[in-house]
Amino acid sequence: MCASPVFKANPDYLQATPSLDGDTDPKKRVYFEVFGCQMNKLDAELMVGTLMENGYSLTENIDEAGVALYVTCSVRQQAENRVISKIGSLKKRKKEDPNFLIGLLGCMAQNQPEETQKKNPHIDVICGTAEFLRLPEILDQARSEGPQMAIDLKKNLTYQRTQNLGPKNFQAFISVMRGCDMVCSFCIVPKTRGKEISKPVTEIVDEAKALADCGVREITLLGQTVNSYGKCLAPGRKIGLQHLLHELNKINGLDRIRFITSHPSFMNDDLIDAMADLEKVCEYLHLPVQSGDDEQLKAMRRGYTVDHYRKVIDKCRQRIPNFRLATDFIVGFPGETDAAFERTCDLLHEMQYQNSFTFKYSPRPDTAAFDLEDDVPEPVKQERNQRLLEIQKEISTKMYAESVGSIDKVLIEGPSQKDPKRYTGRNTAHQIVVFDAPERAEVAEGLVGKILPIQIEASTNLTLFGRLLDTEEKEKTVEACSDHEDASQGGLISPESIQRIDI
Ligand code: SAH
Ligand code: F3S
Repeated sequence: MCASPVFKANPDYLQATPSLDGDTDPKKRVYFEVFGCQMNKLDAELMVGTLMENGYSLTENIDEAGVALYVTCSVRQQAENRVISKIGSLKKRKKEDPNFLIGLLGCMAQNQPEETQKKNPHIDVICGTAEFLRLPEILDQARSEGPQMAIDLKKNLTYQRTQNLGPKNFQAFISVMRGCDMVCSFCIVPKTRGKEISKPVTEIVDEAKALADCGVREITLLGQTVNSYGKCLAPGRKIGLQHLLHELNKINGLDRIRFITSHPSFMNDDLIDAMADLEKVCEYLHLPVQSGDDEQLKAMRRGYTVDHYRKVIDKCRQRIPNFRLATDFIVGFPGETDAAFERTCDLLHEMQYQNSFTFKYSPRPDTAAFDLEDDVPEPVKQERNQRLLEIQKEISTKMYAESVGSIDKVLIEGPSQKDPKRYTGRNTAHQIVVFDAPERAEVAEGLVGKILPIQIEASTNLTLFGRLLDTEEKEKTVEACSDHEDASQGGLISPESIQRIDI
């Protein structure tokens, strides 16, 4: 995967927040790029929100900006390199215009702050994963006092969100927990995001209600191991993700609830039952396995065996109608033999994932695996990566084709980027569905944010293509579907649908 930014925030990004007009003070014009996972995207939304409340506005043109901010990812070296090269290219600008502020935010800032600052003395603000809501104040201090560093991980990140800050007014992320208590030997996240802290159920429910009141129909709960939610809440009383899902399922106006990313060790029966029984909870599970070989899983310190994983998935398939599964793999982890890799290929075949994300192992300083020899040569990593992609493509093509003929309930998102005469949306499995838009623009625009039935007529390995059903048919189908969100859909998941981000 290439290390391109998730998005460059543009001036319409915060639809719900009054943005300032063109004659803003140039010092308060921000250019903003975001790399990494969904949590970074949400953090970026919160940052943009607090900046706008403090009189900042966004610009897509870095030449017009008085501040350039980068929300960064440290999961793989490539992601770090990309940002460092971007920031490096701003040296000349900074020299010519000392008032121009450069900020490095998020995981890279948290990971190696001193070293990064030393190597890049033209960076004005280094702000980690727990202090970014102070950004306006930190930027002011950088203007008056010089370079600032805000990397206290113990700062409890609390905020009250009463409006949707995302780019679509009918979809929102909610962070239900921060940090990670796991010890995966390859992973830098516990260092960059600290110990796991869950937000209380009532706070999340209030946030979700407020979002539903302002038109949000779909929420995605975020956590590094989202299915261990609640572990540290109310000791003695067992609170789990399933309790939260039950509460959220009651909220009027919300239609879809998703959650990412889960860990195989925390998939208990109660959670599987909640997924099966709660009509708003989508039938999709992203459950990273990383490898199909027990020795590798042990060296990765994942805490489960392939057999445990298999049993969890068997239960999900038995209990959850139309169950959809996605995963992550790492290829080329130290000690991965040809035989170990073959076991991963076998698992991919066996599990019939609807989509999977494969990453070439990237050694991260300050992780346990960094002490192991990175002994799988790059061309072998590349070959293994390619092989998993090919197997996945074959599986996805076949599975997508099986959806042809079904009627999916699709949350309409808007015009397709490739062809504005077509519209796109997603089914409950988060799979992209493309269809011809009604000819009259106002009719087409009126569909956005609605959940409508689409007859699936064709497919690729990434996308379903269909036809918006006519009103009479539509009403019948919506009625038929209303008892269970997934009752009529036969869709699968496409890689872009999960919005896994290029890093
Ligand atoms: N639980 C987290 C995982 C974060 S990292 C989540 O929310 O998804 C995302 C994925 O990156 C992991 O599942 C793993 O497959 C991959 N990854 C993490 N560290 C890596 C490394 N050092 N090299 C290659 N891939 C890595
Ligand atoms: Fe990383 Fe493992 Fe946590 S992959 S985010 S340490 S579950």
